[in-house]
Amino acid sequence: MSLELKGITKRFGSFIANDAIDLKVADGEIHAILGENGAGKSTLMNIVYGLLQPDAGSISINQKVVQILQPADALDLGIGMVHQHFMLVPVFTVAENIVLGHEQTKRGILTLDQAKSKIKEIADEFKFDIDPDALIEEIPVGIQQRVEIIRALMYDAKVLILDEPTAVLTPQETDELLNMMRALRAKGRSIIFITHKLREVKEVADKITIIRRGKVVGSVAPTASQEELASLMVGREVDLIPDKSAVNAGSNMLVISDLNIFDTSGRKIVKELSLEIKAGEILAIAGVQGNGQSELARAIINLEPHVTGSIKLDSDEILGRSVSQTLQTGVAYIPESRELDGLIGSFSIAENLILDTHEFPPVASRGVMDMGYIKDNAQRLIKEFDVRTQSIYDTASSLSGGNKQKVVLARELSRSVKLVIASQPTRGLDVGSIEFVYNRLLAERAANKAILLFSTELDEVIALADRIAVIYKGEIVGIVKSDVTREKLGLMMAGVK
Ligand SMILES: Nc1ncnc2c1ncn2[C@@H]1O[C@H](COP(=O)(O)OP(=O)(O)OP(=O)(O)O)[C@@H](O)[C@H]1O
Ligand SMILES: [Mg+2]
Repeated sequence: MSLELKGITKRFGSFIANDAIDLKVADGEIHAILGENGAGKSTLMNIVYGLLQPDAGSISINQKVVQILQPADALDLGIGMVHQHFMLVPVFTVAENIVLGHEQTKRGILTLDQAKSKIKEIADEFKFDIDPDALIEEIPVGIQQRVEIIRALMYDAKVLILDEPTAVLTPQETDELLNMMRALRAKGRSIIFITHKLREVKEVADKITIIRRGKVVGSVAPTASQEELASLMVGREVDLIPDKSAVNAGSNMLVISDLNIFDTSGRKIVKELSLEIKAGEILAIAGVQGNGQSELARAIINLEPHVTGSIKLDSDEILGRSVSQTLQTGVAYIPESRELDGLIGSFSIAENLILDTHEFPPVASRGVMDMGYIKDNAQRLIKEFDVRTQSIYDTASSLSGGNKQKVVLARELSRSVKLVIASQPTRGLDVGSIEFVYNRLLAERAANKAILLFSTELDEVIALADRIAVIYKGEIVGIVKSDVTREKLGLMMAGVK
């Protein structure tokens, strides 16, 4: 099935998010869309999927103009979409979630047995591995995403839109997804693939369209180099291997001793963990997702309820304090999920930029907030962090994915702290913004802060860390310098000491 967009234009107020965009996706093609944060990629895809209506332009399928007024129309026409934030019910099984989807269409309700046999059929056809009876909350993110893809295929999608599907995946899960995409292409399906990771684009894409500030700025072949792609995307050269000065670490800033973290059923998630980070040092925790790193990050700011041991910040015990006390003591926290822990979507950008500090000077004095300060602060930060927005009074939820991340970074990296906990700090960011964040974290290091970095991106870990601690099943299996080989790091991440 071929899909053609002609002159698609979308305005939000006076802002033009999509400016006369033309795009052609051929039968059996993986078409990558690249573009900086806020370029208009998700907006365009939401139009194709019927979630937004364009102000001008047309959509044709097999050379015939179609009307897509709602997602059900898109599904009927053979267009499926997997969103950046999954829409699955955690306490339901895979099959139940897939049936749930079907109730919302005109195609009638499936029984669970029918759904299971259809899931099996699709899984066999495309060689996906999935257990229809597994509970969503108990399967890894990569498999959850597979459920979303199968759900789209249940409606017989011929064109599948994947909006940043790899942002939350581990490297292994990413490779599996790229293979699934190849399998779909081999069966004649077309895929529109949005990602910020140039390596992935070069690996699977047949065609690449680049969007900047709402306009198509070019179309290139996958043979283009990563440097060419990066500079087309952001309009300048980008260097993701930052210049790092020699480490000049001071005394211990964070000292964790014999830390145990338990889940609600009493199982130990982190075991007897001890770590030290010095002022002026970046320590990265590397590991396959789900080995206790999320819990460790949360425990340090006292978001985990069942913890024993000791966490000292600049010699003061902080374990057992409230979250807000901990943040006030001098901890910046960039959470791995900006949607869950980082932002309040219905609040304005200006309000989100003072979330942890709104009760204290200089934001407030004697319980009264200083609106002038809040405005100046927001204007300064959105400029400094290049947050693409119309107004600081727009809600955080109106921002593009990467710009939401920039708001969290701007807030946390502008506070005066002793320790920065950065979990997946560049998730969803375009290459230009990644470069900025790298330099910013190195500036924090130069300013003698201790930095604890959690990242599933090995390139990022190697580029930034002074020391790398590898975590496996809740234990540190070893600490190495950043000149370690990827092979050795990979083995350690698999639990080899
Ligand atoms: N409902 C809305 N109201 C106002 N502005 C909006 C709305 N939705 C999107 N925008 C604006 O349109 C622009 C394009 O957003 P979009 O989400 O399409 O970007 P994107 O290319 O997907 O970026 P990212 O890579 O960060 O996900 C952004 O500047 C965003 O703030
Ligand atoms: Mg987007």
